[in-house]
Amino acid sequence: MNILEVKSLYKTYPNGCQALKDVSFEVAQGEFLVVIGLSGSGKSTLLRCINRIHPASSGQIIFEGQEVTGLKGKELRKLRSQIGMIFQHFNLVPRKSAMVNVLTGVLARVGIMRSVLGLFSKEDQTEAIEKIKIVNLAGKEDVRADNLSGGQQQRVSIARALMQRPKLLLADEPVASLDPATSNSVMQYLEKINKEMGVTVICNLHFLSLVRRYATRVIALKGGEIVFRGTPEQITEEWFKTIYGEDAVEVSVH
Ligand SMILES: Nc1ncnc2c1ncn2[C@@H]1O[C@H](COP(=O)(O)OP(=O)(O)O)[C@@H](O)[C@H]1O
Ligand SMILES: [Mg+2]
Repeated sequence: MNILEVKSLYKTYPNGCQALKDVSFEVAQGEFLVVIGLSGSGKSTLLRCINRIHPASSGQIIFEGQEVTGLKGKELRKLRSQIGMIFQHFNLVPRKSAMVNVLTGVLARVGIMRSVLGLFSKEDQTEAIEKIKIVNLAGKEDVRADNLSGGQQQRVSIARALMQRPKLLLADEPVASLDPATSNSVMQYLEKINKEMGVTVICNLHFLSLVRRYATRVIALKGGEIVFRGTPEQITEEWFKTIYGEDAVEVSVH
């Protein structure tokens, strides 16, 4: 079954920049789809259109059989609660503890009233501790986010996304701010969540070595259009040059 279908998606920003042109693809339940492409190729825009941070200009996005392009209010909140998001710069509240940051993930599910009151139930707290364990940060619950390393902060943000009990996880260059060893560690948690918890992942990535290691399928964007779709193994030297340009050289993260 397809969890997501994107059909002829176009996105033009108010300044006239055409960031996505006729983008169509499907994502099956349980896939780990990686989106690659040069900086400016439209990767972030694509993820933002899927969870409706940005409205699409035209085309359709169908999540679990439901067209989401026109959703508003309660329906839009419900959609967003089912889609977790991981950012390059973690987007944690720096002065709050790991625990509080993870707990805020529940707000996507329970709504605005509790967020105003700042109330978290006993069950929320038990669940947050559980999610913190999944990303191997037990014992760090009370440490302020800004006192954690980059890799630990990204793991907190993964735990926060899990609090939403997402069906789909969107990760926008989740390891771009991390060193190679930490990158692999963070990617392994995303892989674990994908494989063991069955959460479908769409992840924008820069380094091809990580793509080869973690992707079940790949699409490449260039100038807002899909120029490649296939498996990681199918990205030959020739495709690499098509996607990244003649002068590009593949660098590795081990
Ligand atoms: N908020 C915005 N307003 C106007 N143009 C934007 C905005 N965000 C991105 N763009 C433009 O859209 C294109 C795609 O950007 P982006 O989706 O961020 O690419 P990537 O994530 O692959 O680097 C770029 O040309 C970028 O300058
Ligand atoms: Mg980007």
